[in-house]
Amino acid sequence: MPASFRRRRSVLYVPASNERALAKAASLPCDAVIIDLEDAVAPEAKAEARMRARAALESRIFTGKEVVVRVNGFSEGGENDWLADDLAEIVPAGPDAVLFPKIGTVEAASRASHALDQHFADEAVGLWLMIETPRAILNAPAIAALAEDPHTRLGVFVMGTNDLVKDMRIPPAPSRLALLNALSTSVLAARAYGLDILDGVYGSIADNAGFEGECLQGKGLGFDGKTLIHPSQIEPTNRIFSPSEAELHEARQIIAAFEAPENAGKGVLSVGGRMAELLHYEIARRTVALAGA
Ligand code: COA
Ligand code: MG
Repeated sequence: MPASFRRRRSVLYVPASNERALAKAASLPCDAVIIDLEDAVAPEAKAEARMRARAALESRIFTGKEVVVRVNGFSEGGENDWLADDLAEIVPAGPDAVLFPKIGTVEAASRASHALDQHFADEAVGLWLMIETPRAILNAPAIAALAEDPHTRLGVFVMGTNDLVKDMRIPPAPSRLALLNALSTSVLAARAYGLDILDGVYGSIADNAGFEGECLQGKGLGFDGKTLIHPSQIEPTNRIFSPSEAELHEARQIIAAFEAPENAGKGVLSVGGRMAELLHYEIARRTVALAGA
């Protein structure tokens, strides 16, 4: 198990412009918060949002949670250069990671990594990337491969499914059938290079059944957790992305069997009537770690 093992089941977006939501987020049982300076903040509110984000980081109210800031993207010529101001304000306050939107190529991902270095980010500050454009999907393996160099800080992919749906021109559908290829490709790329990966948001806040269905689908596809927009989505997400009692029980049985002195050196065992190989022992140890992390 990697030393950096972290539980990232429920990851809540909080608009940096919303002081009340920022304060509330600190007391919510999510594993991580993403303080958003990008899509959730109107152009007129960017400057104030940046200051609120910095104040929230400096206040250290988020103890026990990972705190990530989503900055604005690289501007394509002439428009506002919000990103430089975001980084200047945010990086010195020491977020756990900075999340860059609209990354589509290896070059853009490297640029994001260098931008953190240029702002003298502490080495503990991680790099998270939004995967939300058709190019990002097609380039996902090469982007993920940047994580082979730890200096890039790359640790997590975050699916931006709303942007992807828009760019792919697919009608939104509960099955997410048209997104499955993109979701699976991104999970494969993340797994190939040891990244964590978070599923996109579910917009219908009042539709609990629909939300739980999408959580189950995301877990089934291999995601580590889900990005969320509302406090009501945290409890179901934590429950669904945690091992169930039955999964834990089986995992503990497998661990006990492999660690029993009489089974030392064995590669395959029968546990509770099922074949267990060393790979199942590894899965079982991860399951128990996830439950207790
Ligand atoms: N983080 C923290 N607290 C939140 C929250 C969030 N994302 N969304 C709502 N809350 C809080 C509200 O402030 C309110 O707190 P209060 O009880 O202290 O007043 C409580 O939860 C209930 O909120 P509710 O009235 O149901 O929702 P709302 O109408 O205030 O907000 C949204 C609805 C969609 C505007 C809001 O949930 C939101 O901004 N979500 C995040 C959007 C975002 O970041 N998008 C970018 C990424 S896709
Ligand atoms: Mg987006």
